[in-house]
Amino acid sequence: MEEVPLDKSIRLIYPRLTVLVTTVNPASEVNAAPYSWIAPVSFSPPMLYLGIQRRETLTVKNIRRKKEFVVNVVTRDWAEKAVSCAAKLTDKVEKSGLEFEEGKEVNVPRVKGAKIVLECRLKDVIESGQADHFLILGEIVHAEKDPALKDEDLAMHISGEKFVGPGQPYSAYRKE
Ligand SMILES: Cc1cc2nc3c(=O)[nH]c(=O)nc-3n(C[C@H](O)[C@H](O)[C@H](O)COP(=O)(O)O)c2cc1C
Repeated sequence: MEEVPLDKSIRLIYPRLTVLVTTVNPASEVNAAPYSWIAPVSFSPPMLYLGIQRRETLTVKNIRRKKEFVVNVVTRDWAEKAVSCAAKLTDKVEKSGLEFEEGKEVNVPRVKGAKIVLECRLKDVIESGQADHFLILGEIVHAEKDPALKDEDLAMHISGEKFVGPGQPYSAYRKE
């Protein structure tokens, strides 16, 4: 075993599910950003959390205001489109080529063609001590899965642009 410096230790928690979180701004325009710090928190009520950088990103601002968001689970077929939404461009969503459709239980659009969709209502935004990420707690109020989804199609995030499928690492390059 090799000792890993503590500032790299978080990177050892991998691979992680990649999701594209959709939110809306006050003008009802959709925003989307990829996240992989996501985990289940509770079966009943069903709850999840997202770890989001502790600054007012568009996602955080929109979630605080609207108190709703959608977690669209990313599969390999649209991983590059999802990753392109990490760009700091005002027109990143239009440029991504993604299409959206209305949420069923929340007033936030979801990604058309996503094979797992979790529509959420905000429960809490937790700032824990000096932690450099917010803990965004959401209750799942509507969930859907495409029965044709193959587990190996899930885009599991390693770090940066690296993902892993069923044992085979691959890259999804960001288009800027
Ligand atoms: C695959 C991938 C996973 C990411 N995961 C996270 C994450 O878990 N937490 C986070 O704060 N940022 C994460 N990011 C970075 C955000 O997507 C990035 O800060 C984005 O610009 C935020 O967009 P927004 O300002 O529209 O909210 C990730 C980026 C990529 C490409």
